[in-house]
This record gives sequence, C-alpha cells and structure tokens, in this order.
Amino acid sequence: MKFEPKTIILKDGRSCTLRPTHPDDAAEMIAYMKQIAEETRFTLRTPEEVTYTLEQEREILGHLLEDNGSVMMLAEVDGQVAGNCSISGMGYKSRVLHRCSLAIALKKDFWNLGIGFAMITYLTELARQIGFEQIELDVVSDNERGIKLYEKCGFVETGKRLRAMKYNDGTYADETIMSKLLK
Ligand SMILES: CC(C)(COP(=O)(O)OP(=O)(O)OC[C@H]1O[C@@H](n2cnc3c(N)ncnc32)[C@H](O)[C@@H]1OP(=O)(O)O)[C@@H](O)C(=O)NCCC(=O)NCCS
Repeated sequence: MKFEPKTIILKDGRSCTLRPTHPDDAAEMIAYMKQIAEETRFTLRTPEEVTYTLEQEREILGHLLEDNGSVMMLAEVDGQVAGNCSISGMGYKSRVLHRCSLAIALKKDFWNLGIGFAMITYLTELARQIGFEQIELDVVSDNERGIKLYEKCGFVETGKRLRAMKYNDGTYADETIMSKLLK
C-alpha cells in the first residue's frame, strides 16, 4: 500500500528515508535480495534462489503498492537500499483476517543503526491502520540481534519450530515464533 515517507536519523548521524517500494526499485531490490542472501543465514533464500527477472520484480512491486492489505517498506540511506521490511496478511479466510506476518532484512553495512527499530515501529502503526490485530514472525533461535530487536518492539515468544531450517552443510536451525498483539 502507499504510505507517507518518513525520515529518521540513524545512530551514526546519517538520515534514512522509510518509504514504499516502487516498481522502479526492481533492479536494486534484486541486487539487495542477492546481497542479504550472501551475508546472512537468517533469511530463507540462498543466493541461487534469488531468480526474479526485472520484469517479474517490477510486477510484484507494482501489485504490492496497490494492495491495501500489505505494506512493503524500503529503507534508503545515501540514495541506496539499506533494507526492507514488510507485513502481509495471513490470507483471505475470515478467521485469519486479523493476523499479519512481518519480515525484515538489512544489508550488513546497515545493521545496528536503529533502522530495524524504526521500520517495525512505523509498520506497527500501518498494521493498526489496516485493521490487523496482531503481528507474527519467525526468527532463527540463535539470531540474538533479531530477537533483541523484536523484544524491544514488544514481541513475545509464543512457541518453537524445531529444525525449521536445513543448511547445505546438513545442519539445522530451530525457529522461535513471536507475536505482538495490537489491541
Ligand atoms: C536483525 C535485523 C533486522 C535488526 O535490525 P537493526 O537495524 O540491525 O536493529 P536495530 O539497530 O534497530 O536494533 C538492534 C538491537 O540489537 C542489539 N544487538 C546488536 N547485536 C546484538 C547481539 N549480538 N546480541 C543481542 N543484541 C544485539 C543492538 O544493540 C540493538 O539494541 P539497542 O538499540 O537497544 O542498542 C538486522 O540486523 C538484519 O537485517 N540482520 C540480518 C537478517 C535478519 O536477521 N533478519 C531477520 C530475520 S527474522
């Protein structure tokens, strides 16, 4: 959905704009997805699994911009994509219309600057406006920075998903399921 851009000041003094993604961001978004897939094992895709073409990505971003039930937020610093945070509904069945899920990832150069906290704070406000009653997320259980951020934003642990991820080297990671009630 469309929303008002917001400018925040980061812990290192730079300014950062939080704004909706636009189809024109497609090339940068593909590059960003590849980069974060290389930099962290805490997200779902491997670099080889980032296979969107420019046209496909443009189309996806266009749909997201027009979809009033989801938010795709970009953090921009010095004219480049620093990260992305999104919420999307759990589906269109009446019994789950009150729930949405959150996903977030930043390029490594932009970790620990307060962008995650600012994005989730703004997304929480937008989730309320849409009418969602709770935000849910899954986080790899040893992602200490992520869990610290989510707790700071008011999320609490509601369960565990054992062996949720399996890596190429054959090891597994559990996930912690977290939730934040909005009313
Ligand atoms: C997890 C992530 C989204 C956090 O965003 P961020 O902008 O770095 O987070 P913030 O700077 O707003 O806050 C991070 C907090 O964690 C703290 N922190 C940093 N490293 C930490 C660690 N190893 N253990 C515990 N807390 C840590 C910071 O001090 C900060 O808390 P503070 O503001 O109270 O000082 C970001 O680091 C990221 O994209 N990581 C890789 C991808 C990922 O893990 N995505 C989430 C998948 S569920």
